[in-house]
Amino acid sequence: MRIIAGEARGVRLTNVPLGVRPTADRIRESLFNRLGQFFDGGNVLDLYAGTGALGIEALSRGCERAVFVEKDRGAVEAIRENLRRTGLQERAEIIRDDVGRALERLSGRDGTYNLIFIDPPYRIAAPEAGNVQVRLHALLAPDGRAVIESSSRSPEIVGSKKGESRRYGDTVVTIFERSDLTMNVAVCPGSFDPITTGHLDIIRRAAGIFDHVVIAVGRNLRKGPRLTATERAQLIETVTSDIDNVSVELMDGLLVDFAREQGARVIVKGLRAVSDFESEFEQAQLNRTLSPQIETVFIMSAAEYSFLSSSAVREIAGLGGEVRGLVPDVILDVVREIYSGSGDQTEATRQRIG
Ligand code: PNS
Repeated sequence: MRIIAGEARGVRLTNVPLGVRPTADRIRESLFNRLGQFFDGGNVLDLYAGTGALGIEALSRGCERAVFVEKDRGAVEAIRENLRRTGLQERAEIIRDDVGRALERLSGRDGTYNLIFIDPPYRIAAPEAGNVQVRLHALLAPDGRAVIESSSRSPEIVGSKKGESRRYGDTVVTIFERSDLTMNVAVCPGSFDPITTGHLDIIRRAAGIFDHVVIAVGRNLRKGPRLTATERAQLIETVTSDIDNVSVELMDGLLVDFAREQGARVIVKGLRAVSDFESEFEQAQLNRTLSPQIETVFIMSAAEYSFLSSSAVREIAGLGGEVRGLVPDVILDVVREIYSGSGDQTEATRQRIG
């Protein structure tokens, strides 16, 4: 394998480490013909970078800086060696980590990428593909393009049928513009102490409206919750496991910052009765002052849940009352035990949450 064009043209790349499936030279050449051959600066992000051949080719053809994400030690060594051979190491950063975790870190930084290469291995978990999909839009520059390699055996990172695809044998390379990737992501925040059937109804209805819903579990709450944020999140994961386009995250700090990091433009809240209105109106106005681009959207509770709240569940369970119907059935026993009066939940009960 060689660098095909640009300042490092003709440089031979190091041997491909075991387990890495590189993009063949002819596919790389055709891809860069489609992308426009040469670039005038700009940032590149090479995910599942393997030997780094795609990102290095882009650097050689004029991109200013590249970030390579790869978790395999041998592959990281190969990227390092290839950068050394091409003399491009000063313009590159290698992150040795899971793509999911790396994207989380990159989302917290300033700056976007003009080119994002994504060549996932055959076996990545569906949640990881979902995570990449959610973050992609936020990391791509307004005129940026994402290039995704897929094969009949690899998962679909982007559900979108848009983009311009070309097949090379078993490999399909699709170039997406930012507008092809526009996903309507909403954040549904709360303390969820515990999640109730009313919350779940709002989450399901939100998932029917938006492409993806991120449930934000508040970590630092004014009122001390009975369960840790991780435990509350695990209960939510249990009850939402059948909804494909919902994920659960812990939230520190400001809601609007969290929404921005998630690539969300909408905050979804459930509104039960007039009594909710004042506090929700105040929060929506404050959030709008902090970040006018983010809209708060209210979904009216179904009549049968309009009386239901986490605090009512805590009180009823604490006094030995029946909470069936108030929380989803799959977490009924755990909720009864955890929130029952004594407060000294056994370790065994806490373990069942996970
Ligand atoms: O279920 P809750 O208790 O109504 O949820 C409260 C939550 C987590 C939505 C709220 O505390 C929150 O938004 N926290 C983030 C802090 C923040 O952004 N505050 C400023 C605007 S109100």
